[in-house]
Amino acid sequence: MVPKQGTEKEDRRKGELGGSLKIRWMDLGDIPSVLSIENRSFPTPWSENIFREEIQSPLCSCLVAAIDGRIVGYIDFSVVWDEVHVRNIAVRPDYRKKGIASILIVHMITETSKKGARWATLEVRRSNIGAIGLYEKFGFILTGVRPLYYRDTEEDALIMWKDLAKDPQDEG
Ligand SMILES: CC(C)(COP(=O)(O)OP(=O)(O)OC[C@H]1O[C@@H](n2cnc3c(N)ncnc32)[C@H](O)[C@@H]1OP(=O)(O)O)[C@@H](O)C(=O)NCCC(=O)NCCS
Repeated sequence: MVPKQGTEKEDRRKGELGGSLKIRWMDLGDIPSVLSIENRSFPTPWSENIFREEIQSPLCSCLVAAIDGRIVGYIDFSVVWDEVHVRNIAVRPDYRKKGIASILIVHMITETSKKGARWATLEVRRSNIGAIGLYEKFGFILTGVRPLYYRDTEEDALIMWKDLAKDPQDEG
């Protein structure tokens, strides 16, 4: 019997990642694992209290990526009217460049588009080439700069926007 295409893809991804990847909503019990990634990802990491507030806020949504139950990444975003604001995203250092942030972004876009979101925006440090590459891949466009927005490294923030109705694949 010829296996279904979806199954082959699942198996391939499982092999590449060393287990089954699941995307689900973050809960309070996830905070220690999330903080361990956060602390290794940012010069001024979010505190436990910030994650607690984000999880409990009606305006914010947090997704985690877990491989066989082990958290390897997360995304946090808020939605106001038809605008999604990406507030935080990080992947465990040893799981980067395997498509995990991309999967989290796809889930965020799917979830928010279903509820009528039309635009997504974010700020990113000018030096964060990896994150900028990730956002450009999804069709985020540079629209402005907030000079010296990040006080810890005295760095500018680039402001990026994406039209959620446009698929970057369609634009060549
Ligand atoms: C930015 C980050 C979330 C990307 O996560 P990831 O799971 O490695 O990203 P993906 O594997 O889905 O990469 C998707 C695309 O992003 C770009 N990208 C990701 N990491 C990159 C890097 N180090 N250099 C250049 N481009 C990169 C590439 O275009 C890549 O596509 P490709 O694999 O087809 O080349 C991760 O590097 C991270 O956690 N960094 C620290 C936290 C951070 O800076 N967060 C963003 C705050 S604005």
